[in-house]
Amino acid sequence: MIKIGLLGCGTIGSGVVELISKNSSAAQQILIEKILVRNVEKHINSPYGLKITDKFEDILNSEVDIVVEVMGGIDPAYFYVKQSLLQGKHVVTANKDLIARYGKELQCIARDKGVRLLFEASVGGGIPIIKPLSESLAANNITEIWGIVNGTTNYILSQMYNWGKGFEEALREAQANGYAEANPAADVDGYDAARKLAILSSIAYHKNVNCESIHIEGIRGITSDDIQLAKYLGYTIKLLAVSRKYDDSIMAKVTPFMLKLTHPLAQVGNVYNAIIVKGDAVGDILFYGQGAGKFPTASAVLGDVIDIVKNSISTNRPDNVTPDDLPEANVDIREDECRFFIRISPVDRSAAMGEVVSCFGDCEFIFPNRVKLGKAIEEGQIIVITSRMKEQALTEAVDRLLESGKVNRILNIIRIGEDD
Ligand code: HSE
Repeated sequence: MIKIGLLGCGTIGSGVVELISKNSSAAQQILIEKILVRNVEKHINSPYGLKITDKFEDILNSEVDIVVEVMGGIDPAYFYVKQSLLQGKHVVTANKDLIARYGKELQCIARDKGVRLLFEASVGGGIPIIKPLSESLAANNITEIWGIVNGTTNYILSQMYNWGKGFEEALREAQANGYAEANPAADVDGYDAARKLAILSSIAYHKNVNCESIHIEGIRGITSDDIQLAKYLGYTIKLLAVSRKYDDSIMAKVTPFMLKLTHPLAQVGNVYNAIIVKGDAVGDILFYGQGAGKFPTASAVLGDVIDIVKNSISTNRPDNVTPDDLPEANVDIREDECRFFIRISPVDRSAAMGEVVSCFGDCEFIFPNRVKLGKAIEEGQIIVITSRMKEQALTEAVDRLLESGKVNRILNIIRIGEDD
């Protein structure tokens, strides 16, 4: 029997408990020994009442083999996970904040102690992505990752696109459905997706991608005009986490993208996540599934637990080697290229259009047919799609345009994701 100490018994923790009792083959080998909660009173009448504690020492001092951390956040999860590893216990965690920030240090401790630290549930909820990246695709040179890795923002954008809802209304619905983080800023401002991108990119490119170095733009700036125009032009809008390997650097960004409806990620709706991985041998692989929620996440957590149960003797595994030697990635988006959709409020329309051409070069102006557009957009704005240009060139062109005095402001800039 393998004994589990569960840290946290909220949505995910109770999902893990229920799944163990539902899945008889797992239950035969796994015993929940202790459950750490904040408020013991709340759980006293549960079938696990006798196993509940509010003291972390009870977990460490019991005969627990695997500590399962599903409490989230950094404090006290970091301390608990570190102490568990130092005491020679395997750890399974669903905590992307923890792994994005302290993954390298914790993996080193795990390796030194000959135990395993698994975190499949930290990215993509129920989608198996960490193990495929680190093991099944290990023969590849991974060159790119494109992902919808935040269910909340995908839900909000889907509601805005499909039903014409406003941002605030869609966010409230996402919160009511339990998708959003306690503080929705982590979701809507792109930080949650950036942490997940840091985890995936570090594994894929064998370099430590620091979350702080990722270029992040959230979805608060996406307006009804952007949605209307995207529809009019045959695009949808998604918050994507994208990274790409260059010779000397890694490009990593989390930003809204316009995608043609034929793009493989365009039809990924609501709380679903999807990740495309490009490998030199395998080509493109698409992973798709529920990126959040009680049972999808519990599925990934318990999958890791079962992996340890089955492979607990061998510690010479991909998740246990070389984290010490993982060099820091040089993360830089300046050389990355794409087309940009730009909306501009001009001072004088024709003068501003001339200035746009002089700043951005070859570009396509959009003059939407008001009848086909369906819903009114702000009068007088200039809508333009640039040719492919580098991020740095875009920034310089925008600065020049603003300095020209011919525009009031840039209303929005959205990158266009090509399906190539
Ligand atoms: N808030 C996260 C999301 C939960 O919306 O994707 C899963 O990590």
